[in-house]
Amino acid sequence: MRSSCFSLLLISVASGTNALSLHRRDVPAVVELPVQRRHTSAQSLRKRDSTVDLALTNAEILYVVNVTLGTPPQPFSLQLDTGSSDLWVNAVNQTVPGPAFDAKSSSTYTALEITLNDTYVDKSTAFGPYGTDTLGLGGVTIDDFEFESIPGVAGLAGVGYKTITSASAFDKKPYDNLPYALADKGIIKSPAYSLWLNDLRANSGTILFGGVNKAKYIGELQTLPIIPIGSTYVNLAIALTEVSVQGSTGSNSYTTSLPLPVTLDSGTSLTLLPESLANNILNEVNASFNATLQQSVVDCEVANKDYNVTYSFSGATITVGIKELVAPDPQNRLPENTCIFGIMPGSESDGSSALLGDTFLRSAYVVYDLGNNEISIANTNFNPGDDDILEIGTGVTAVPGATPVTSAISILASQTPSSRVVPSSATAIPTATQSSTATPKPSTGAAAIPSINAKYLLSGLAGVGLLMV
Ligand SMILES: *[C@@H]1O[C@H](CO)[C@@H](O)[C@H](O)[C@H]1NC(C)=O
Ligand SMILES: *[C@@H]1O[C@H](CO)[C@@H](O)[C@H](O)[C@H]1NC(C)=O
Ligand SMILES: *[C@@H]1O[C@H](CO)[C@@H](O)[C@H](O)[C@H]1NC(C)=O
Ligand SMILES: *[C@@H]1O[C@H](CO)[C@@H](O)[C@H](O)[C@H]1NC(C)=O
Ligand SMILES: *[C@@H]1O[C@H](CO)[C@@H](O)[C@H](O)[C@H]1NC(C)=O
Ligand SMILES: *[C@@H]1O[C@H](CO)[C@@H](O)[C@H](O)[C@H]1NC(C)=O
Repeated sequence: MRSSCFSLLLISVASGTNALSLHRRDVPAVVELPVQRRHTSAQSLRKRDSTVDLALTNAEILYVVNVTLGTPPQPFSLQLDTGSSDLWVNAVNQTVPGPAFDAKSSSTYTALEITLNDTYVDKSTAFGPYGTDTLGLGGVTIDDFEFESIPGVAGLAGVGYKTITSASAFDKKPYDNLPYALADKGIIKSPAYSLWLNDLRANSGTILFGGVNKAKYIGELQTLPIIPIGSTYVNLAIALTEVSVQGSTGSNSYTTSLPLPVTLDSGTSLTLLPESLANNILNEVNASFNATLQQSVVDCEVANKDYNVTYSFSGATITVGIKELVAPDPQNRLPENTCIFGIMPGSESDGSSALLGDTFLRSAYVVYDLGNNEISIANTNFNPGDDDILEIGTGVTAVPGATPVTSAISILASQTPSSRVVPSSATAIPTATQSSTATPKPSTGAAAIPSINAKYLLSGLAGVGLLMV
């Protein structure tokens, strides 16, 4: 799973080689992790939405990675999330079941700033939520890695920008979250990774930190600028410029509400598009929005027809076959022969309208290059041969074999902040006090836990839309 003999990376670069082979190392500085599709009954922090019935969100399908925390290592399976940036784990608590981090059993744990001591009914010494400890993943370890542990939290490994870590929201002190920590420790060359989820019928894909696996995509990687909000890079979003549907009778293109920044979000199961655009696509395949379920539904038979949905990003295209968009309801709430359709109308007012989730990502190979604020995409290879792993280097041409899309949209002025933008008012929420000299009152501390979660309640994500087998 790993290639970590980093000291061997000084292998001299042969002169006269092209840009691509420049990155080909005998031992590339990469960390590869399997990503597993998993059903969970746990509530994921960032999936909450105060406007929908949480009961409907119980059976989520998530992509998880295995990590360890602490000394000796405590194992966790965490949801891999390109749409958020913190690493959260459940904390030991007699009333909350499941794997939980026990700070007291780790010799390398250090509690940070905000402590919620005294809030625990049994008055045991409990730390939280911020701390640092040794993180292990893919055969490498990162000392003093910052994360949060809170009782009852579903584990999450956010790999987005530092700007949306909760520490950044609280006190404007972004810390090195996973991609940056790997780069800062020299384990990978720059904060960048590639995501390959494989198809709807497969149970696992991979995330490759620091590298690109040429075997896992078709054609060339095409590079697009990430769209900032103002001058700040917040979401891993690129400009969607057109969506078209190809069927046996031809192709129809739609540009209503476009161009629009869309976050390529592994933490969302479905794809949410602006309502009118989504409805155009639903109409093409006789799908409809079921208001009771808050899901798009379609005749399961449609999966066997010859339709594709093609997303265009300033000319670079990803084609999603209809088979990747039709799946049975995991909770069996639909009439016979009715399936869930993987594209949902989002609300245009709350920012949930622009997420390309797993029903898009399974058809794409995506290189998230946080260092250069770029995303490179190619159509996925569902039947990859032997690995062909190239290292992502540093500097503007870091991603091997990737070609910039000419005249790609890099700025969109009037964009709706997407789901993970924390409004500045949210920073006023936590009442947890800082520093070890603080003596939080029980009520204060107790309130702090849900308040920390509250920023996720602001997400506006259509939580119910997240069920996709
Ligand atoms: C995580 O670890 C468990 C237990 O060892 C294993 O069954 C599972 O396949 C692993 N999943 C991933 C994504 O590595
Ligand atoms: C938590 O509270 C206990 C009892 O009041 C105290 O002994 C301990 O030092 C506190 N721990 C922290 C991290 O503040
Ligand atoms: C465990 O977590 C629950 C839910 O967050 C909380 O109400 C309770 O006080 C916690 N108990 C302990 C012992 O930490
Ligand atoms: C859909 O895409 C597949 C694979 O790219 C292709 O073979 C098929 O012809 C396409 N179908 C239509 C209707 O364009
Ligand atoms: C949608 O319904 C129309 C009219 O019943 C039918 O002709 C068409 O084949 C259907 N399309 C799909 C994708 O099922
Ligand atoms: C919509 O969902 C409800 C609740 O599961 C179900 O009873 C109804 O038949 C569904 N309607 C359609 C058209 O699928």
